[in-house]
Amino acid sequence: MKVLDYRRLGWGAMGLCLCISSVLAGEVDQALIDRGRYVAAVSGCNDCHTPGYAQNDGQTPEAQWLTGDRLGWYGPWGTTYPSNLRLLAAQLDESQWIAMARNLKSLPPMPWFNLNRMSAEDSRALYHYLRFLGPAGEPAPAYQPPGVEPQSPHVTFPAGP
Ligand code: HEC
Repeated sequence: MKVLDYRRLGWGAMGLCLCISSVLAGEVDQALIDRGRYVAAVSGCNDCHTPGYAQNDGQTPEAQWLTGDRLGWYGPWGTTYPSNLRLLAAQLDESQWIAMARNLKSLPPMPWFNLNRMSAEDSRALYHYLRFLGPAGEPAPAYQPPGVEPQSPHVTFPAGP
């Protein structure tokens, strides 16, 4: 019966290891998600990519964060709409997201030059936060070329300095 005892001991120890490692993994994920939530809030992504956020003092419920916006930004570049970042993250893996964020160039008023400077750690946290939120909402309306003033609500930029 000694053999059986050893086996039991082995399984018990293995179970304990698995339990500890899953607790640690859980903690790491939670920390990453919390950091991503923080990055989204303080780096301004919600201001444009979350409906109503800039107009309601940041009170949009988290369930709608980063689902994009139908408010157009009309200027000499045409009309752009803040993309649905939750749908975008759902299509990319972590390394694709980080590379996209580092190399993105887009039209105003997206501050792509700021996003390009985001650290890989913050970018990774933002990605995992977006994946944690999960895909939701609709794709943003399509870009419209210059000279066509949108009929739907939009912000108008001056022609330039
Ligand atoms: C001032 C408004 C504004 C802010 C702030 C802003 N964005 Fe954007 N973003 C936009 C607009 C508008 C577009 C669409 C640009 C275009 O069509 O070329 C866009 C596009 C993007 C895209 C490209 C999406 C695609 O489908 O290709 C990414 C990624 C993105 N933003 C991420 C972010 C992140 C991350 C933050 C915060 C660090 C952020 N944006 C902050 C307005 C903003």
